[in-house]
Amino acid sequence: MAVRRVLKMGDPLLYRKADLMQEFNTPALDALVSDMFDTMAAMNGAGLAAPQIGVSQRIVIFSVEANARYPDVEPVPTTVLINPTLTPIGDEMEEGWEGCLSVPGLRGLVNRYQKLRYTGFDQHGKPIDRTVSGFHARVVQHECDHLDGILYPMRLSDIRMLGFEDALFPEL
Ligand code: NI
Repeated sequence: MAVRRVLKMGDPLLYRKADLMQEFNTPALDALVSDMFDTMAAMNGAGLAAPQIGVSQRIVIFSVEANARYPDVEPVPTTVLINPTLTPIGDEMEEGWEGCLSVPGLRGLVNRYQKLRYTGFDQHGKPIDRTVSGFHARVVQHECDHLDGILYPMRLSDIRMLGFEDALFPEL
């Protein structure tokens, strides 16, 4: 288990399309997932995609706990999602502020599908099939974008809606 270095925006590895995982339930995959959780926890992230630590494979993790300090944040179950497929449900979109461990210090207002179904596998090869909305749906879309080489600033409709956290939210 180890905290790995997170690549920052500008690193060409972040813009690659990641490869499908061929094998589940291997010691190497368990070790990678464990490093991803250590890294996400160390950096206080809500999610992490394998390409962010330089591994170009279709693996994301996410986890958001209920937090009394931020009652507006909806909890998201701790999940390992491999080879994901996302299918939007309806065409309703929703704007929300996002941050990314590869874009430290910044936040941007991004439009995402409000509701979607996602399928994939956990690290043991067990199928996952969920229909989610709101913040959970946003987190999944953000993380899975990393697998296609997309960082959230590439989805901004207005570049002025990208800024430094302490300038955008001075009250925090
Ligand atoms: Ni990110």
